Amino acid sequence: MAFTIQVNLPQQAYEIAIAPGSLEQLGAYLSNLQLGKKVLVVSNPTVFQYYGETAIKSLQAAGFEVASCILPDGESYKTLESLQIIYDTALENRLERSSTMVALGGGVIGDVTGFAAATWLRGINFVQVPTTLLAMIDAAIGGKTGVNHPRGKNLIGAFYQPRLVFVDPEVLQTLPVREFRAGLAEAIKYGVIWDAQLFAELEAAERLERMEFLHQSAKKGELRLIDIILMRSCQAKAEVVSKDEKEAGVRAILNYGHTIGHALESLTGYTQLLHGEAVALGMIAAGQIAVELGMWTSQEAERQNALITKASLPTKLPTRLDLEAVIEALQTDKKVKAGKVRFVLPTQIGAAKVIDQVPADIIRQVLRQM
Ligand SMILES: NC(=O)c1ccc[n+]([C@@H]2O[C@H](COP(=O)([O-])OP(=O)(O)OC[C@H]3O[C@@H](n4cnc5c(N)ncnc54)[C@H](O)[C@@H]3O)[C@@H](O)[C@H]2O)c1
Ligand SMILES: [Zn+2]
Repeated sequence: MAFTIQVNLPQQAYEIAIAPGSLEQLGAYLSNLQLGKKVLVVSNPTVFQYYGETAIKSLQAAGFEVASCILPDGESYKTLESLQIIYDTALENRLERSSTMVALGGGVIGDVTGFAAATWLRGINFVQVPTTLLAMIDAAIGGKTGVNHPRGKNLIGAFYQPRLVFVDPEVLQTLPVREFRAGLAEAIKYGVIWDAQLFAELEAAERLERMEFLHQSAKKGELRLIDIILMRSCQAKAEVVSKDEKEAGVRAILNYGHTIGHALESLTGYTQLLHGEAVALGMIAAGQIAVELGMWTSQEAERQNALITKASLPTKLPTRLDLEAVIEALQTDKKVKAGKVRFVLPTQIGAAKVIDQVPADIIRQVLRQM
């Protein structure tokens, strides 16, 4: 059974197709979009060894002329150099305005490929085939694309929407467990800030920390938890970005847990914590800040923290972390508006608000407790 979620943007609408076990039908999905004949599949060796052949055969079977470009694996390759490699391959294969770039991989591949598609010939078709949980429910949706500058993450980029986001949950079977849990952090985020029903589904699960538990369905014919998580999380992101494509308002709530999360990632050199792990810690901190400010009940904050624990995500700050350096880093974050640290804080499960002035003392006190 396949599900589709519509992303409605002023300039362009597209579908997120969640189609369990359907990677071999990727080509058929693309044929519905009236694209040119040429497709460039961009991936990395890790993902390509598992899914490259299936994806390419399926595209060829649907009549596409397929070339591929394999970039090295890792955040450290989300660079202008990788972009250059994609451009070179696009040139060799004479990609045209009507051609399509397909990103087959996690958020790194999706971000670089999206920016390549946005800029090659001033913009060609782009399709996302996310293969990590984080990319499926977050990075592949919403049109933020780009690469890192040696001195800062995501500094170079563009808003560029895909023509299709194609999700086959079965590819998650090969995802390392730590990456899987990091993705769950973003699902928990949507539960806290947007979708109380998703939160309840996660709460009702006996166990969350391994993919196997989510891929089993409770009863015959019932949706599996993984499908529910994908559907509700994608829906949440689609709704938020449809309301606010360029992050002028409500889209900012997607940064829940990310203010402190980003500071932790950057202070630990992007090596110690995965993004989702840093976000989990950031949500615990932001939740407690909301409690201290009297905006959120400690009971609900506890329920959030229990979910984070159930997903086996970290709940304690890395040892030897300089708290003053965290406060300092918050000031240089992109989320600073007129010198004040901006925080997304929950008001109840399923709702959050942006608060512009959180006193540094409260942040300090909360971090000390962690
Ligand atoms: N554009 C956005 O809105 C947005 C949002 C969130 C994150 N991001 C970006 O996404 C990136 C992080 O993405 P990520 O967490 O997917 O990391 P990633 O792309 O680095 O993937 C994580 C690891 O899993 C491997 N992998 C991917 N799919 C696999 C599979 N099915 N089986 C086995 N291994 C697999 C990858 O090769 C990689 O080693 C960051 O660069 C971040 O800035 C972008
Ligand atoms: Zn995130």
